[in-house]
Amino acid sequence: MTTSRPVVIVTGASRGIGRAIAFDLAQNGYTVWLVAREEARLDPVASAIRQAGGQAEQFGIDLTRIEHVPALINAVMTKSGRIDGLVNNAGMTRRGKLTEVTPEDYDAVMALNVRSLLFLTQGVLSSMHKGGAIVNVASLNAFDVIKGAGLYAASKAAVVQLTRGLAIDAAEQGVRVNAIAPGFIHTDFNAALWERREMRDWVETNTPLRRLGTPEDIVGSVRFLLGRDSAFITGEVLVVDGGFLPTRMWPL
Ligand SMILES: NC(=O)c1ccc[n+]([C@@H]2O[C@H](COP(=O)([O-])OP(=O)(O)OC[C@H]3O[C@@H](n4cnc5c(N)ncnc54)[C@H](OP(=O)(O)O)[C@@H]3O)[C@@H](O)[C@H]2O)c1
Repeated sequence: MTTSRPVVIVTGASRGIGRAIAFDLAQNGYTVWLVAREEARLDPVASAIRQAGGQAEQFGIDLTRIEHVPALINAVMTKSGRIDGLVNNAGMTRRGKLTEVTPEDYDAVMALNVRSLLFLTQGVLSSMHKGGAIVNVASLNAFDVIKGAGLYAASKAAVVQLTRGLAIDAAEQGVRVNAIAPGFIHTDFNAALWERREMRDWVETNTPLRRLGTPEDIVGSVRFLLGRDSAFITGEVLVVDGGFLPTRMWPL
């Protein structure tokens, strides 16, 4: 069956930023394929989207098992008949000093943040038509290394360069590839950090817009980069961080 709505796959859609992106895209006319490891965690997201009048499908997959990617693509093509967009949002971190990082930490972070992003993108590109668009979720840590996040920062720097490289290669089939780089966003991902008052104060003091971001702060940028209004933008990274990165605040 081919749907007349544009079809987008959103990874990491069971909570946080991915959930908010999925909701927003469904509200704006997309059929959204929600992807995360546990179908059970996707159920309530899909139900809520449908209750709000949107269209959602779900697919449980551990994205680090790239051998299962064809099953995902097959499910989307069989049920929805087309793929117009992909949001590579699923990601993870392991905090700690780079001098103490274990090979297991390294493999886990790189397998999800970098390896699975590349091979899911490859799989999707084989079914994506001209005019399709891909948005990768990087991080401000791609540009700045924050103490304890060196491994994560390296993985997100790789996401930025994969975005630029994929933009060149996917342009051959008329597909655009961009990234967003969120700043400090309040989700489960780093909830422990925001329970510490001094951390919140530090972010609020050093961010010109004086607050932590929310998942809803991210969604408009993703929708823009997926849609026709950004038809001449590819290989770009849009920083969404309340001004933290471009306007470092000095203690004067
Ligand atoms: N929060 C921030 O401050 C911030 C800032 C900059 C960038 N980012 C980036 O934004 C993205 C989303 O962050 P978030 O804060 O929303 O994270 P989150 O709340 O931890 O959500 C992560 C999502 O990824 C899914 N996931 C994790 N491992 C997976 C795997 N192996 N296979 C498939 N799905 C998997 C999780 O679902 P399951 O556990 O059910 O699989 C969940 O839906 C990440 O790429 C993160 O690096 C976040």
